[in-house]
Amino acid sequence: MNDKHKNLIKLAHQSIEEARKSVEDNHWSMNFHMAPPSYWMNDPNGFCYFNGEYHLFYQHHPFSPEWGPMYWGHAKSKDLSSWEHLPIALAPSENYDKDGCFSGSAIEKDGKLYLMYTGNVWTGNNHDTDLLQVQCLAVSQDGIHFEKISENPVIEQAPEGDIHPFHFRDPKVWKHEEVYYCVLGSRTKDHVGQVLLYRSLDLIKWDFINVAAKGEGNFGYMWECPDIFPLDDYDVLMMSPQGMKEEEYLYHNLHQSGYVLGKLDYEKGILEHGEFQLLDYGFDVYAPQTAIDEEGRRIMIAWMAMWESEMPEQSHKWAGAMTIPRVLTIEEGQIVSRPVPELKTLRQQGDSIGNKLILGEHRLQGFEGDSYELELVIDAKGANEFGIKLRVDEDQTEETVFTYNRSEGMFTFDRNKSGKGPKGVRRAPVNLVENKLHLHFFVDRSSIEVFINDGAKTMTGRIYPEKKSLGIMLFSDQEVEVTHLNKWNLNKSIKPYVCNEE
Ligand code: FRU
Repeated sequence: MNDKHKNLIKLAHQSIEEARKSVEDNHWSMNFHMAPPSYWMNDPNGFCYFNGEYHLFYQHHPFSPEWGPMYWGHAKSKDLSSWEHLPIALAPSENYDKDGCFSGSAIEKDGKLYLMYTGNVWTGNNHDTDLLQVQCLAVSQDGIHFEKISENPVIEQAPEGDIHPFHFRDPKVWKHEEVYYCVLGSRTKDHVGQVLLYRSLDLIKWDFINVAAKGEGNFGYMWECPDIFPLDDYDVLMMSPQGMKEEEYLYHNLHQSGYVLGKLDYEKGILEHGEFQLLDYGFDVYAPQTAIDEEGRRIMIAWMAMWESEMPEQSHKWAGAMTIPRVLTIEEGQIVSRPVPELKTLRQQGDSIGNKLILGEHRLQGFEGDSYELELVIDAKGANEFGIKLRVDEDQTEETVFTYNRSEGMFTFDRNKSGKGPKGVRRAPVNLVENKLHLHFFVDRSSIEVFINDGAKTMTGRIYPEKKSLGIMLFSDQEVEVTHLNKWNLNKSIKPYVCNEE
């Protein structure tokens, strides 16, 4: 590794170490979600399965809890449940990436692990217009220490055509029939989101094939972090469009993450596809990335935060976290996401309730917590509106409310009374199944993820309650029956990395 790169990484670790105690002492710090050891995190990068372990890299600014020149943080896991932080993999050390090693992906070739990422350089003060983005590679024998290759940048400029010359980033690379392909996030010259498809035989020389897909109508001005992968009988294009306008209950976040299902013609480089669908109906899922593992499962992880959102954890020297890993399948023309089953290994002894009738509001005594998994089935009987409140304090000044409304066919996640931080309500269209609602929550110290009706819909959000807001309450306008409810506290599962290098 060259000295400059090595030195930047060393300084970064010193900085991270100095702030780590502040993060550990903070009651919003994550227990079982991947989060930065300290300071800033955004997109998942290089998510892959390599030599029998899952590797997850991420956009990281190791010198402050705000976004800045990007490094790649790194962690690995044997089971997607317990994670171990590792040394920083990439630092912005070269002329072509001096203002940031932006998002990208990982692939194995000849037993080595390659990272493909965007080198970012600011050419002036306006971050929207004064930038130069190129695509680069770094390689590692051991999957831990990375060297940038001498041929960098491997893609030096955006192709000709109706393609914006500067906004050109986030390579996601994969192999199909012995050929490497990558997609890049892009926009047209007049700001319509699109993705570019490239092909390579060796990861070093890349040929542009085509604009694989392009927005039409309300589809944003830029597509960030594209990912194309086969699933079931489809090729899925997942991407994060910036700037979609609100439509009824949809697209209320600053930017969206979603997908289209289609078929990729590898020769022409065109993806014929259907309608855009959201991946998550909550507040805080962005820049998702997938990996395929040994069992052939397609696993997704996303940044559990949103650009320009208030992040109260910044005052405790950290910002951002990842969602739990989710297994994707396609059922009835939609992506269904379920928590990876390995998360069960984090369960402590559980508590449960069966066949309980609820009318009005009911507090579940003995079920308090701030880091748990909760699964319940509610038989709606004749009720129209019912639900559950989490992270509730004694006098209900704080509560995060999940409500099902049968006549509207909507499930809502309301964080207006969740505590500090961003507020708001998000809605997802949900149908009862045999008059029942199935909810599966993962609650960590500043987040809630809910999988509705076995992953048919998910909603994710960050919340910042007081330490003492630990209660759970059920409510209903008419009698409902909780046929079963199970809660397990979840173990802390993230191991820090302590840098001993001189
Ligand atoms: C998405 C993104 C990417 C970019 C990275 C920079 O959240 O804007 O397009 O590579 O973050 O940190």
